[in-house]
Amino acid sequence: WLLPTFVLLLGYLLGSIPFGLLLTRFTGAGDLRRIGSGNIGATNVLRTGRKGLAAATLLLDLLKGAAAVLIGAALVDGGGPMAGAMAFIGHCYPVWLRFAGGKGVATMMGVVTAMFWPAGCIFAAVWLAALFGTKWSSVGGMAAAVSAPVAMWAFGRIDLVPVALALGLIVLWRHRANIVRLMKGEEPKIGGAKGTSA
Ligand code: G3P
Repeated sequence: WLLPTFVLLLGYLLGSIPFGLLLTRFTGAGDLRRIGSGNIGATNVLRTGRKGLAAATLLLDLLKGAAAVLIGAALVDGGGPMAGAMAFIGHCYPVWLRFAGGKGVATMMGVVTAMFWPAGCIFAAVWLAALFGTKWSSVGGMAAAVSAPVAMWAFGRIDLVPVALALGLIVLWRHRANIVRLMKGEEPKIGGAKGTSA
């Protein structure tokens, strides 16, 4: 039981590294908590005007999810999905930020890709299509999150449907403020003209 517990803890700790917050803080780009949506993800980093930092946040948040899956699978037979799910939980609910973390899209993309890469390709394709089709980052993320369990099912990876579904539902839950803004017509678009949007 010691090794599985270690793998779960390691997954959580990896996921709980708030790369967006750290990168913006250490480069003097500002305090993400006081910018835009206040979220710690790549979309909000983009609102600081630092595109490179936003791309780095997206990549690192994605890689920590993928790394957790790969490490988990290497250490415990079948431990990949569990470690990945814990990294996702760590990103959304990090103990260091009093459990107020991110919305999980990038980390879910990394977890899904490392668990079963064809579903990761679908995730990325749906994300890009919805993101650039609507210019709403939140819509892109939510559409991709919902596509993951469907893709797992369509590819015959029924064993991975529960974890993909659970992560997808948490992504939707984490976007509840975005959903309210979308319904009110107040959700900023990426690359928008207003100062609060990016
Ligand atoms: O993944 C987060 C993104 O979907 C929305 O971010 O900052 O617009 O709430 P934000």
